[in-house]
Amino acid sequence: MRLKGKVMMVTGGGSGIGQAAALRCAKEGAKIVVMDIVEAGGRETVNALKSQGSVGVFIKADVTQEADWIAAMDETERRYGRIDVLFNNAGSNLSKPVTEVTVGEWDSLIALNLKGVFLGAKHAIIRMLKTGGGSIINTSSSFGVIAFPKMPAYCASKGGIIMLTRQLALDYAKQNIRVNCICPGPTLTPRVKAHFSKGDVSSDSVLGGVPMGRFAEPEEIAGPVLFLASDDASYMTGAALVVDGGQTMH
Ligand SMILES: NC(=O)c1ccc[n+]([C@@H]2O[C@H](COP(=O)([O-])OP(=O)(O)OC[C@H]3O[C@@H](n4cnc5c(N)ncnc54)[C@H](O)[C@@H]3O)[C@@H](O)[C@H]2O)c1
Repeated sequence: MRLKGKVMMVTGGGSGIGQAAALRCAKEGAKIVVMDIVEAGGRETVNALKSQGSVGVFIKADVTQEADWIAAMDETERRYGRIDVLFNNAGSNLSKPVTEVTVGEWDSLIALNLKGVFLGAKHAIIRMLKTGGGSIINTSSSFGVIAFPKMPAYCASKGGIIMLTRQLALDYAKQNIRVNCICPGPTLTPRVKAHFSKGDVSSDSVLGGVPMGRFAEPEEIAGPVLFLASDDASYMTGAALVVDGGQTMH
């Protein structure tokens, strides 16, 4: 029970890495607030939480909207009294060369991947300062560390998350707020499966750069998220933890 008594918000908690992390952290005692823009996924996660005997609630929220963050955090504090952990994880991808990316596509991906993380961190920090600290985990990517073809907005947003993580970690280290990010390699989530089925990216082009030669399962990312959320990582802040089958080491 490494998160016993902790309250954890998970964005993008209705699918993939967010869902797996919600279920794993709940097994370790966390009360989970699942935030997602898609109601069906959020409800699926809460049902799975209840089936495993955990505590959780779904709050529909768009992470790009500041008002949604404030409402979600007000509701979390009303229900559970505090916010100990924020897993700032909602995000998406866009696969096309820069010459084909419209301003609208650029703005909306940066809004989801980077502004969403900024807003979540901002409002979590405001509340964590009042309760004596907490842990924020942002989801970057191995493609925030190394470039990948035809993903300019994605690589820029994920690289930005690593630097935002370090900057926030620096400002709040003395206030007991740890801010780290996780950099997953290719992980078999619904979003990634959809990319392959549409033919946007070939699995060979991705796995060719992964020494382990396979995708991660979402549960293999959830374990490191649990670690960063827990007191086992009490001396870690500003870190970008790569969980990538070796993709970024060469
Ligand atoms: N799957 C991978 O290979 C991989 C690798 C590295 C990083 N990541 C990152 O991990 C995170 C999760 O990705 P995933 O693969 O689990 O994707 P996913 O599509 O399975 O899950 C993402 C969730 O975010 C939700 N969401 C989308 N827009 C939202 C918004 N505006 N507000 C709130 N929720 C919103 C979606 O409804 C969905 O439930 C993303 O930040 C992604 O960039 C994924």
